[in-house]
Amino acid sequence: IKTSVCIIGSGPAGLLLSQLLANAGIDTVVLDRKDRAYIEGRIRAGVLEQGTVQALEEAGAAERLHREGLPHDGFELAFDGDRHRIDLAGLTGKTVMVYGQTEMTKDLFDKRTAEGQQFFFNVDDVVPTDLKSDQPSVHFTHDGAKIVVECDYIAGCDGFHGVSRQAIPADVLKTFERVYPFGWLGILVEKPPLAHELIYANHERGFALASMRSNTRSRYYIQCDVNDDVAQWSDDRFWEEFATRLGPETAANLQTGPSFEKSIAPLRSFVAEPMRYGNLFLAGDSAHIVPPTGAKGLNLAAADVRILHRALVAHYKDNNDSLIDSYSETVLRRVWKVERFSWQLSTLMHQFPENSEFEKRMQRAEFDYLRSSEAASRAIAENYVGLPLD
Ligand code: FAD
Ligand code: DHB
Repeated sequence: IKTSVCIIGSGPAGLLLSQLLANAGIDTVVLDRKDRAYIEGRIRAGVLEQGTVQALEEAGAAERLHREGLPHDGFELAFDGDRHRIDLAGLTGKTVMVYGQTEMTKDLFDKRTAEGQQFFFNVDDVVPTDLKSDQPSVHFTHDGAKIVVECDYIAGCDGFHGVSRQAIPADVLKTFERVYPFGWLGILVEKPPLAHELIYANHERGFALASMRSNTRSRYYIQCDVNDDVAQWSDDRFWEEFATRLGPETAANLQTGPSFEKSIAPLRSFVAEPMRYGNLFLAGDSAHIVPPTGAKGLNLAAADVRILHRALVAHYKDNNDSLIDSYSETVLRRVWKVERFSWQLSTLMHQFPENSEFEKRMQRAEFDYLRSSEAASRAIAENYVGLPLD
């Protein structure tokens, strides 16, 4: 099989790239080791930056998003019951959109499928080869058959556990990592959200986040031991802990009910450099992970893809490779800024077992400073709504 760009991974990054390239008349083949139903069913991110929404508009996959998504023009930070609103619209002129990763993925799958995209699902033994040559290829097994895709470029959109990053020689690849000493226990419940806006709370018993997927469906999280088993967390235990951390005033509006999804995610900061090796490009979680505080993971993946799309269009339409040559540098400069923001907000909002009373006072002082300083609040706001592409 021959194509222009072989995309490994059919998560949000791979799907968005495939759609943007298709709109520019550039042919792709997309493969994934899972199938569509599995990928769509993964409960993950829920907040889209304006730039991500714009990318979906450019992709032509934003119609349902504008119908069903919830625009948010602010969110709240809470410390031991005291609250501070970050007025995103007032401080930046921009807003964010609550729309689940599941929904965004479904919209992109629908459009790619309707347009006849060539997908291979449930593939195995994926190997990207000849990365330094003009004719790289991707080898894999599908339905027992060995398949080779010959292409000009390979896009490694295969997430943190994919093969693309591993295809870069060890003496070239440099990685940076911080693992946090706790996880997030998240639940979905078919009840209206307890507030119109998201609330991120730091309480002496740990972090809590009140988020949502729609006006009738809530997404709630609490900081937990990363080694906890979800079976240890009955719904009752979750509700009690969640309400305690939000404080009586906020929790007064909480409507509890049976959860229909419950999972624990570890928190990690990770960056791999470079994000290009020969004719292989990394985009999204294959190259970097952020802790979820601030909702940047999906948005960062979308920003990588927009930058990569721009570079590939310049190559195919204008015969200009300068954006391809600067891809890794351009994208990493932005990646590190988003890593910094996610790390900062995570550090501010969680209880760290190793923290002394001094660090706890530092967290409280930073919160008090945010409450007293529009400049400090704006710095949070401009990161939260999304930094410019470059
Ligand atoms: P992925 O979504 O991981 O997609 C990669 C795709 O590649 C997958 O479909 C996978 O099956 C496929 N693949 C893997 N290996 C191979 C292979 N060898 N060959 C072929 N295909 C392969 N972000 C937020 O902003 N907010 C959140 O609340 C949030 N919660 C999260 C919770 C969890 C449990 C996780 C894991 C992530 C969460 N994230 C969150 C992060 C966000 O979901 C990711 O940043 C986003 O999915 C990245 O998209 P991606 O397309 O780069 O990678
Ligand atoms: C959600 C997740 C986040 O990490 C965040 O900062 C905001 C919202 C969510 O899943 O709804």
